[in-house]
Amino acid sequence: MNSQTRPLPLGDFKPADQWQTHVNEIFYGIQGPGIHNHFQTYVSLDHRLAHALAEDYYEQARKRPDDKQHLFVMEWGVGNGNLAGCFLTHLQSIDTEGRVYPHTRYVLCDFSMEILKGARNNPRLKQHTEKFFAVRIDAGHMDCFRKGSVDKIFSNEIWDDLATKVILKQGNSLHEEYLQPLIDPNLAVGMNFEQFAEWFNTKNLDALKAWPHALPLIVWERSYQRVDIDDWPHTETLQAHVDRLEEAIPVPVNLGALATLKRARHLLNDNGLGYTGMDYGMYSLRELNFAGRPYFNLYGGQYTFMVNFELLGDWAQAEGFSSVEKEYQHRFVGKNLNDRVISVLELVQTHHGAHDMAPWDRDILMLRTLHALNTAYKSPYRHKMEYPPMEGTPDTSRQQMIELVRTLNIQGVPDTVAYVTESEVRRVADQLASLGYDERDYGSLFHGSGEPISFVIMSFR
Ligand SMILES: C[S@@+](CC[C@H](N)C(=O)[O-])C[C@H]1O[C@@H](n2cnc3c(N)ncnc32)[C@H](O)[C@@H]1O
Repeated sequence: MNSQTRPLPLGDFKPADQWQTHVNEIFYGIQGPGIHNHFQTYVSLDHRLAHALAEDYYEQARKRPDDKQHLFVMEWGVGNGNLAGCFLTHLQSIDTEGRVYPHTRYVLCDFSMEILKGARNNPRLKQHTEKFFAVRIDAGHMDCFRKGSVDKIFSNEIWDDLATKVILKQGNSLHEEYLQPLIDPNLAVGMNFEQFAEWFNTKNLDALKAWPHALPLIVWERSYQRVDIDDWPHTETLQAHVDRLEEAIPVPVNLGALATLKRARHLLNDNGLGYTGMDYGMYSLRELNFAGRPYFNLYGGQYTFMVNFELLGDWAQAEGFSSVEKEYQHRFVGKNLNDRVISVLELVQTHHGAHDMAPWDRDILMLRTLHALNTAYKSPYRHKMEYPPMEGTPDTSRQQMIELVRTLNIQGVPDTVAYVTESEVRRVADQLASLGYDERDYGSLFHGSGEPISFVIMSFR
């Protein structure tokens, strides 16, 4: 690397949680609903998880005492508002006696004004005007709401964004991960490095909005320093956890997620329906102690840490929740559909050629797979999927893609990470075989992937 292209530090080494929350605040503050150009979630376009949550909520809420006027549902970290829109739409359609939907008020909470602006304009949510409100607030500080004033809380993929420290056991001592952001000024065309460093350090969102492409150019240096955890929250619970960890494997300690449990405990009323949170990470000690497993992700400049669900469950008990339930998200959605489920992306990844294909050939395979699935799949919503060819796609592949996207069924599978059931997949097995899929490769996925990282749903009451 010559001196002209060497990345320059944007600041000093700091504990991982400090830079992580810093860069995420900038990422969400400048992006708005454009975040979903960088990643999709199981609720950002699909409806199946949202519907399963609505049915669960409905079953519990209809048993509440009749004298209760309103039911306050809160969602923390709302993205494009699709979870709220599908949840309310499905609740309305199953509540044929009008016992729950008319009394439900849905409060969308997010720390980003841009995100809330986008969510409010979500067409699915707009059909429920008067039923929802948007509040700009940080999930770790919900102090403006009265104790016991909330009936149900949801969050999807927020814990991985919130403050997370990383620890590493080495002999008798414990080490903490430190991060340092660096950027190569020459890669971001026309950028004045000192000016950018100042905006970055002061989180000047208005100025940084003009440079959304700069965040993904940041590279992160890592180092480890000895740490004493005596003043960390719930030290005894944490120490007991550390005692069960293997050596030399970085383990996330999701302090921000713990803060949401504290806030939820405070806000939920005694007969409340609990806090249900979903995210991805290590389900149990077995996965935590899996050598070489990933523990963080970078998407378009955003820095996320996988969730340590084992520790979160222990913490919830220490916080006083009397019921802590944990389940694989796929199983939760499958139960609701009386079937087993996987995501389309998981299916495509089983294709023998998927890993070695040119990216545009993989896109074409994905689109053909969607076409095949659409012959068995019918969404209750209408949605025109966008799937722009990526830069560098050769002309013939580009034309092919445009045609495949144009002819996608408007009530077909809504997203490349949408849930599809085993019966839908089995019904199109012949078409999948002609695309080169082997039933033996995807069939086993319906029984669990065995991967160290999975999507998990936890409920605390
Ligand atoms: C990964 S996105 C998930 C969005 C949506 N729940 C979904 O699953 O599609 C995380 C969301 O949490 C919000 N968020 C991140 N940190 C937050 C915080 N400290 N307080 C409130 N919202 C936060 C972001 O603005 C964004 O809307």
